[in-house]
Amino acid sequence: MPRVNEPRPSVTAAVVAATLLLLRDDPELGHLVDRRTLDAIARAIREPLPGVGWALDRVPWPLLRRAALGLERAVSPGFVAHYALRKDMIRTRLLAAIADGHRQVVLVGAGFDMLGASVPDEARVFEVDLPATQAAKRRAGVDGRGVVFVPLDLARGSLRAALLAAPGFDPRSDTVFVAEGLLMYLERASVEAIFSDMAELEGRVRLVASVVTPDARGRVRLHSQRAVVDLCMRLLGERFRWGESPERLERTLAAYGLELETVSSTTERRAAASAARPRRPTGEVIVVASGRGRPRRRPKAGRSAQSGDTGTLDLATADAPTATAGLATEFAETGSPA
Ligand SMILES: C[S@@+](CC[C@H](N)C(=O)[O-])C[C@H]1O[C@@H](n2cnc3c(N)ncnc32)[C@H](O)[C@@H]1O
Repeated sequence: MPRVNEPRPSVTAAVVAATLLLLRDDPELGHLVDRRTLDAIARAIREPLPGVGWALDRVPWPLLRRAALGLERAVSPGFVAHYALRKDMIRTRLLAAIADGHRQVVLVGAGFDMLGASVPDEARVFEVDLPATQAAKRRAGVDGRGVVFVPLDLARGSLRAALLAAPGFDPRSDTVFVAEGLLMYLERASVEAIFSDMAELEGRVRLVASVVTPDARGRVRLHSQRAVVDLCMRLLGERFRWGESPERLERTLAAYGLELETVSSTTERRAAASAARPRRPTGEVIVVASGRGRPRRRPKAGRSAQSGDTGTLDLATADAPTATAGLATEFAETGSPA
């Protein structure tokens, strides 16, 4: 256990992962959960949420589940369904990127949801997170075989430098980045530094991320949550800092050579998946963006002496294909459960 005043593992990451446990036997949404991950999640959340660990050991499951869902209705209606759908949509997009040839997966702000366990063996997985969150995962023995941990505070250090120093990371390999439930905790400068670092890699890059859009009053928060949740997040030191509308995000990404491809909403998917649960929009959307990778310059010997130019594009990489172009809002989700 960490000592007092040591940095703590992320509590919000543990709360989000704990919602997946509630879906284990859920008739409507249970099929969205990757069951292979549930035991590891139950182990991982015990340190950041000791009260939940205590209750898991002592309170009969049906009672505990009913109490948790009652709390959800009181403080953030639709929260559990939103996370189940968000996670399923992100996993579906991650697996699509791997099927499209991306062989490196970087889970930025990986938390405790064990997404890495859903990645097929042909892809190498790197998890970037705060050192305290990763240390808790190691103590729980759920750090995942073959997953490379990259401890980094994204508010202070460079993602690119950390990845280049990570064993086995290849900047030329096509790489998919997942930033689920992360970007909203960072200042704009740190978010843009991530986009810039991604775009600097030499292989194709794809970003699968969740982004909070500002509410009608311009506040960056889940639109469906009560003020008490804002207060708790503030007290935990895990408040939201950055959010953007899809239109503005498209321009921000473009400034770094990344093309926004899709924007999806769990609310619309939920309408198809579940009739019984509340359908309050959360304002959090799932986005996919792609980049071609930075064109490599030829080594000096290959440059044209006569023209005096300062570098020739390597056409092999400059011509790398992008996936579909243009902003498409795909609200009619058909993604299948894992
Ligand atoms: C709400 S959790 C989301 C976790 C997981 N991706 C999920 O969706 O379940 C936010 C994650 O971002 C990490 N995080 C927050 N601020 C960070 C920072 N400055 N640098 C690196 N990781 C950070 C936390 O440790 C935590 O794992």
